[in-house]
Amino acid sequence: MSSPHPPLLNPSLLAGDHSHLAASARIVAGLGLPWLHCDIMDGHFVPNLSFGPETLAALRRAGLKLFFDTHLMLDEPQRYIEAFARAGANLISIHVEPAYDHRAALALIRTSGCQTGIVLNPGTPAEAVEPFIGEVDLVLAMTVQPGFGGQSFRRDVVPKIARLDAWRRERNLSFRLEVDGGIDLATAAECRAAGADTFVAGTSFFRATDPAGFAAAFARL
Ligand code: DX5
Ligand code: ZN
Repeated sequence: MSSPHPPLLNPSLLAGDHSHLAASARIVAGLGLPWLHCDIMDGHFVPNLSFGPETLAALRRAGLKLFFDTHLMLDEPQRYIEAFARAGANLISIHVEPAYDHRAALALIRTSGCQTGIVLNPGTPAEAVEPFIGEVDLVLAMTVQPGFGGQSFRRDVVPKIARLDAWRRERNLSFRLEVDGGIDLATAAECRAAGADTFVAGTSFFRATDPAGFAAAFARL
């Protein structure tokens, strides 16, 4: 483990109460956690729908000041970047798999005032994101096939996390290395050992009987 970042628990709003999303986000803020993971789905790149920029804007209007880590699971993310930036996103991550001009999209995220992230699915090799790792703030290695919360952690992704961490070290880079899908304390520890530092947790966080204890345990990873 050689991450330049301390472990960060990043709860996923997708697992919150969709009739009270502000209340779910306030649980996160109330624990002193700085980040909130916002999953955006288009029904094309992934076979599900979630929420859109208006939801983020409404959370801002409700007074939430969390860092919105916005995960776009979209075939054409470039079409929506400015809308999410205006709505209050702080970081926007885009998948490497669909065909669009990734470099132009990352530049648009940056000029829109947000941090940048590049995402790869469990079956996508690390090499696919290698051209971008020198210019992004975050690399997200999906540990489930995206689209739904509550899936089982894909242990076969762990060597890829270690590979990305090795590149980060060798090239003296400082991007965050995030994992997303099936993350609980045990699977997070495996990812931490491989170099991950940013842990998206949906189901395990919102179903925890003692969220404060859960967050404290993550901080000790
Ligand atoms: C999956 C999403 C995840 C999801 C994780 O497509 O990208 O962020 O909310 O949910 P859990 O933690 O339940 O696997
Ligand atoms: Zn996500």
